Amino acid sequence: MTDVVENMAVYYAQRAAYYERVYFKPERQTDLRAMEASLPALFAGRRVLEIACGTGWWTPHGARDAAAWLATDLNPETMAVARAKALPASVRFATVDAYTMAELGGGTFDAAFAGCWWSHVPLQRLPAWLATLHARLEPGARVVMLDNSFVQTSSTPLSRRDAEGNTFQRRVLDDGSEHEVLKNFPTPEEAFAMLGPRAVNPRWTAYEHYWVLSYSLT
Ligand SMILES: C[S@@+](CC[C@H](N)C(=O)[O-])C[C@H]1O[C@@H](n2cnc3c(N)ncnc32)[C@H](O)[C@@H]1O
Repeated sequence: MTDVVENMAVYYAQRAAYYERVYFKPERQTDLRAMEASLPALFAGRRVLEIACGTGWWTPHGARDAAAWLATDLNPETMAVARAKALPASVRFATVDAYTMAELGGGTFDAAFAGCWWSHVPLQRLPAWLATLHARLEPGARVVMLDNSFVQTSSTPLSRRDAEGNTFQRRVLDDGSEHEVLKNFPTPEEAFAMLGPRAVNPRWTAYEHYWVLSYSLT
């Protein structure tokens, strides 16, 4: 793993116990309720691979009417919070590195979901990461990604931009440790341009604090 990618994994392991505070920001509540309510129908009856499930904030909503839901993350620390939740019976967990997905063996799915993950993938790695994901998905699969929009009054300020165009934030954890975290805020056009040849009918829904990207695979 590259340094930025490794830093991100370590940062979220350390933040796991109080990660969900970010979901209690008052100004984000309207968006969150609307997005949560929209998820069950997107995955109804499908066999879903969730990438980087973290503490499982979105899992109960996405999995509500799914046929099967495999929630995956690299960090046991974040998944431990998710595992302790009341979840639909269709939910299973697995430790999976999103960049290789090697731990999945030969498993394939007819839908995929990733919450607040896209923004952390270095721009130069997005096409390869998407190809790795799509290789696990059957023709006709639905893909849904959601993530943060940059909102001056609510988001952590950007600290720098690198030569590839990735943006970074400096974040401080409760123990006082400071972490540089890669966090990108794509436009719909930038995101669509990354999707690759199998993606059809891309759709972008802009909320105030978040965006949702969905598309199908041929
Ligand atoms: C911003 S959190 C998103 C969590 C959750 N999906 C959400 O929307 O609340 C990013 C997650 O990515 C996980 N992660 C970091 N590196 C990873 C990797 N290489 N493969 C899989 N998950 C990884 C972290 O453990 C963390 O749970």
